Amino acid sequence: MTIEEKVGQLVQVTGWHRDSLSGPTVSPQQEELIKRGLLGGIFNIWGAEATHEAQKIAVEKSRLRIPLIFGLDVIHGFRTTFPIPLAEASSWDTAMVERDARIAAREASSAGVDWTFAPMVDIARDPRWGRIAEGSGEDPLLGSLMAAARVRGFQGNDPSQSNSIAACAKHFAAYGGAEGGRDYNTVDMSERTLREVYLLPYRAAVDAGALTVMSSFNEIGGVPSTGNRALMTGILRGEWGFRGFVVSDWTAVTELILHGVASDTPHAAALAFNAGTDADMESGAYLQFLPRLVRDGKVSMAALDEGVRRVLRVKYALGLFDDPYRHCTPEREKSNILTPANIAASREAGRRSIVLLKNSGGLLPLRKDIRSLAVIGPLADDGANLLGPWDALGRPADVVTLLEAIHSAVSPATKILYAKGCSIEGTDRGGFAAAVESARNADAVIIALGESREMSGEASSRSTLAIPGLQNELLESVASAGKPVILVLMNGRPLAIPWAEEHAGAIVESWFLGIRSGNAIADVLFGEYNPSGKLPVTFPRTVGQVPYYYNHKNSGRPANDAEKYTSRYIDLPSSPLYPFGFGLSYTTFDYSGLALSPGVIDTSGTVTVSVSVKNTGTRPGEEVVQFYVRQDFGSVTRPVKELKGFERIALAPGESRQVKFLLRGSDLRMYDAAMRHVVEPGTYTVFVGTNSRDVTELHFSVQ
Ligand code: BGC
Repeated sequence: MTIEEKVGQLVQVTGWHRDSLSGPTVSPQQEELIKRGLLGGIFNIWGAEATHEAQKIAVEKSRLRIPLIFGLDVIHGFRTTFPIPLAEASSWDTAMVERDARIAAREASSAGVDWTFAPMVDIARDPRWGRIAEGSGEDPLLGSLMAAARVRGFQGNDPSQSNSIAACAKHFAAYGGAEGGRDYNTVDMSERTLREVYLLPYRAAVDAGALTVMSSFNEIGGVPSTGNRALMTGILRGEWGFRGFVVSDWTAVTELILHGVASDTPHAAALAFNAGTDADMESGAYLQFLPRLVRDGKVSMAALDEGVRRVLRVKYALGLFDDPYRHCTPEREKSNILTPANIAASREAGRRSIVLLKNSGGLLPLRKDIRSLAVIGPLADDGANLLGPWDALGRPADVVTLLEAIHSAVSPATKILYAKGCSIEGTDRGGFAAAVESARNADAVIIALGESREMSGEASSRSTLAIPGLQNELLESVASAGKPVILVLMNGRPLAIPWAEEHAGAIVESWFLGIRSGNAIADVLFGEYNPSGKLPVTFPRTVGQVPYYYNHKNSGRPANDAEKYTSRYIDLPSSPLYPFGFGLSYTTFDYSGLALSPGVIDTSGTVTVSVSVKNTGTRPGEEVVQFYVRQDFGSVTRPVKELKGFERIALAPGESRQVKFLLRGSDLRMYDAAMRHVVEPGTYTVFVGTNSRDVTELHFSVQ
């Protein structure tokens, strides 16, 4: 390979075109680059025909005939849109998440896509950050399990299968730690927090075999990730043994200039490449300057060769050298996409992702033969927004809205009174009167409120967590009609809903559930499905409490609302509105007989924790039994609680089950005062319960 051809393998450019399944073709300029062997891959192009055509240029017209790799952000489904990742994390169901990623891979790989820029595994403790929607919330264990499940789903048992695509764990690292929750912003955190919290899901994705990793936009403590050798080379490859390639995020290479660590584009290219950022997405810096940098000795030929090898290895792993057209056969594209089975899986995922936040007096489920029902709110008959952010090829026309689903769920005699009330944003109260009127004339009210899909995802941080616009006011007006009110939330982040928590009869958190959102929600509202989701993220009372997460430190003056001189705000209770792990069911579960043994272990020992869980209600239901641990004291301060395990169990009415958790000494590893990764002797508390707050506890010690 010439130097130019080597560099070409490291260049990724966008095809950027979003509106047809057959996809765009490459531009004439890109065609030229492909012929000259100067492009390694193109993203944002799809469709069997379009990718076949572009691939043909690479394979037949370039000197070395190296196939291109085609990328796309397949975040929660390709054409069959699944719940957003934050919603799927609420299912705590890794098997389901793996299956959904598999389906997405099957669809995408049938339409020319070789590589997805997913999973996004960034821990998010600040719901102002719009990209919280794309991840699995605040917990490193849940986040790690979800990360690994998605990697397995995308890549299958073998990435060279024609229905597998390469995964890309992103955004490495700590992108979710942006100050103020503002996208792209500075991250400054201790190495301990980085290693004990933020890095774990990336590690899990790498251990699960993720073929690629994306560098993040942010800096950490003064060093932008894309130019961070300690991170990209030291940790990722040295410590974790990652063998795939790192692609920069979009123009992150040249952004090193604005960060203020590179003087110009060649400098940025050298810095990024020498740090271990193998491929350049969109900035053009490698294409333009890397050959010269190698000739000038600023980048070594050996390093260039290694970068090229990493990219080629991934192409080999995907089987592209055996058959460059493996993902672009029109027959598969016709038969594999938006199939009835995929659509059914999306509905199933939707209902398992719903979290029941409140249900006073057993208001839900509703009877299907209820006489009349008011269906209100800007999101009640909205399809497009329910696709959520980053919906790949999702189409509004494929979405079943809540109103449509309610119509098909209730008895023919049920009268449905629909009123939009107001828009998601805006100041027009013109629709309030009709909404209140329909509430008055109905036996119960279902009101669907929340965010538009543009309010979360990239570049969509919000400074408030309130339900936008006049929606809360609409809720208050409708509630004044005196009928039971069921609030259905549709949103990409935790919202602060203190008024609703106090006044609504029931609250259903549905996030954005994808193409069968309406059906999934109706299944829950009318009792076809007993809700079982649990929050993967804390719901604060107000934005002023953030960052607010369950696995915080105790401080020397832990919050006590009865004591002024403690770590709290004087103007609101210290507790969250809903704690991490929270979610109700239509049945009740009773926990008893928490036991552990042995009470003393050495650092390589294992503690068995068991608890008996009984369904004490009248409906079958599923419960996510949660297990947390605290190191009572150590050489450094420790979180008040850390999730160490969970199990989802199904119980018939009256049935009980003993759930066992094994805690190995190594599960207790932490970074001690000298930053050694060790298990410290001492006492530990075990907590088991239905969420992170409502737990019972026992103790053991490590000698
Ligand atoms: C986002 C990435 C995404 C990339 C390609 C960037 O702006 O931060 O998450 O994969 O664009 O679409």
